[in-house]
Amino acid sequence: MALKLAVLISGRGSNLAAILRGIDAGSCAAHVALVLSDRPGAPGLELARERGIATAVVRLQDHPDRAAWDRALAERAAEAEPELIVLAGFMRLLGPAFLERFPQRVINVHPALLPLFPGKAGPADAIAAGMRVSGCSVHVVDSGVDTGPVIAQAAVPILPDDDAERLHARIQRVEHVLLPRVIDAIARGAVTLGPELCVHAPPDPASTLYSLE
Ligand code: GRF
Repeated sequence: MALKLAVLISGRGSNLAAILRGIDAGSCAAHVALVLSDRPGAPGLELARERGIATAVVRLQDHPDRAAWDRALAERAAEAEPELIVLAGFMRLLGPAFLERFPQRVINVHPALLPLFPGKAGPADAIAAGMRVSGCSVHVVDSGVDTGPVIAQAAVPILPDDDAERLHARIQRVEHVLLPRVIDAIARGAVTLGPELCVHAPPDPASTLYSLE
């Protein structure tokens, strides 16, 4: 049974595209019912429209304050009756109205190995800290900044001549694999979101990544 998604974006939408590729390939048991953005110019909206997916924009500046925006965003998302909300490059913090409306049903993809390097500069912060490995995390969203329980991660090496942009591009390649897989695992019941996050299908322990190979 395909999991009904609302995908929230602010930008390019390459993760949205990866989800759609996974759905087309039959490897991600989901259906995108709505793409919702806080930015009317987000290129990912066009991608959704081309596919005939419903889109909506709820801008912060059209509301008297953050709480009103948060309520309006939750209201619009709820109209699609999603089973899972996916933040795929959504660059604003969700407030209590949204999170209370969809408890344990919001996930996010972040370009660092959380709990290290939360916030907007994950790739730059990992380089500045002298890490040799970074990666991406898919996690449950709570009220903090990238603080919710981690569902899955994928690692990439940090190369000597990396800058934040090059590293982020390498991280995005693994995001595009991991995010659709996590959605599929939730759809199949291999991951249960709830007060206790439960991953029933842990990865093969032999698939360790060494940074000098
Ligand atoms: C991704 O790298 C994600 O980790 C971060 O925002 C970026 C969104 O990229 N939260 P895109 O819009 O999916 O291309």
